[in-house]
Amino acid sequence: PAAKQIRIKEAVDCRNTRVKVFGWVSRHRVQGKDMMFVVLRDGTGHLQCVLNDRLCHTYDAVTLTLESAVALYGVIKEVPAGKTAPDGHELIVDYWYVVGKAPGGDDAITNRVNEESDPSLRLDQRHLVIRGDRASAILKVRARVMRAFRDHFDVCGYHEVTPPCMVQTQVEGGSTLFEFDYYKEKAYLTQSSQLYLETCLPSMGAVYTLSESYRAETSHTRRHLSEYTHCEAEIPFISFNDLLDTIEGMVKGVVKRLWDEPATRAMIKQLNPTFEPYTEPFVRMRYEEAIAWLNEHGKKRAEDGKDFEFGDDIPEAPEREMTDAIGKPILLTHFPGPIKAFYMPATKDDPRVTESVDLLMPNVGEVVGGSMRIWDHDTLLAAFKREGLNTDHYYWYLDQRKYGTCPHGGFGLGVERFLAWITDSFSVRDCCLYPRFVGRCKP
Ligand code: 4AD
Ligand code: MG
Repeated sequence: PAAKQIRIKEAVDCRNTRVKVFGWVSRHRVQGKDMMFVVLRDGTGHLQCVLNDRLCHTYDAVTLTLESAVALYGVIKEVPAGKTAPDGHELIVDYWYVVGKAPGGDDAITNRVNEESDPSLRLDQRHLVIRGDRASAILKVRARVMRAFRDHFDVCGYHEVTPPCMVQTQVEGGSTLFEFDYYKEKAYLTQSSQLYLETCLPSMGAVYTLSESYRAETSHTRRHLSEYTHCEAEIPFISFNDLLDTIEGMVKGVVKRLWDEPATRAMIKQLNPTFEPYTEPFVRMRYEEAIAWLNEHGKKRAEDGKDFEFGDDIPEAPEREMTDAIGKPILLTHFPGPIKAFYMPATKDDPRVTESVDLLMPNVGEVVGGSMRIWDHDTLLAAFKREGLNTDHYYWYLDQRKYGTCPHGGFGLGVERFLAWITDSFSVRDCCLYPRFVGRCKP
């Protein structure tokens, strides 16, 4: 009889009909002489499949291996929902064949890599690791997170843009630039699309991008990658307070979108059982208060074991300890100019500090960095001088302050850090397809 080709997520609508399903063998088990169970995976879900009698006596059945690609034909039958058939149905197979056999024995996938494998081996074998339950679930949540950001910005009236990744300017300091030869000229991989987004304001109004950013980070940490996906936005005619509200509204809005989608909520719950959307106002704290908090709680500077002082950068470890102790998202604001980027304006009432913000999340630390931008031409020129930057390369950025300048601000969110927070992953390395960091550029 005829069989309609379906994907596993469509099985629920095809009960009692004969179907054909392609997929990979995720698990299999032989029961007695005449019965074999296969859990098939096709990216849209898992399906328990039952092979009876002569179907389990063939050479292919006896030598079936995990991760082989197979085609299974049969009727979808309703069964009580349980551990093996979570969707309340299974496929009673009446015909099947192997499409692409995976090796068994020494070269079996579980011998190549498994949960117990050394982390560096797991990274070498990441193309196989991503087939696993947790890794594939994180990648699927990632796809939904990217879509949720796009939907959020779309509803809020932002336009998406695609800025260049090959550039001749720096945004976040010279020490983390990847430099390369661009037809005999010096060029860099972009650290941030911010400067380009700023040029789009008079053309399109508020804009955003989901692009790759590159940082030649030398530190081995659980939250630094050399290449990461950067969600950046820029908004004209706003105040610093508007910017803080925008960041808070975006994080809450995107989480709500994910949570309101039953399939996404189920994936997040599977990865991070205690996750709950945070609906209270985020804590707002000034840099100076954070320094006081660290000293009151006995945190010391790593270099000399002394108290933190105004002007110190707050390193990753004490930052996370503070965020975890407070246990709530924190909008940390008003950082001193010297520890922040050249484009950040000083506040009117206290020129020692800038209109800048980091959003800190429990378990991860900084997830968003943002600020207002210096919008006066001569003040920006002076900032370039102070930073020792050659303004020739920034003529287009300075023109922005010449042809109809306006107060504006924006921010950048690290998609992998956001995912590490949502999925409770220890490292951002588990939150991207193929992580890039010091010493790792494969697969
Ligand atoms: O704080 P950052 O460096 O800020 C900027 O690049 C601004 N120009 C963004 C803007 O205002 N448009 O980076 C922003 C965010 C960080 O908060 C962090 O989440 C992420 O990008 N990030 C990294 N993620 C992974 N690996 C790295 N090496 C990262 N560096 C920054
Ligand atoms: Mg930052």
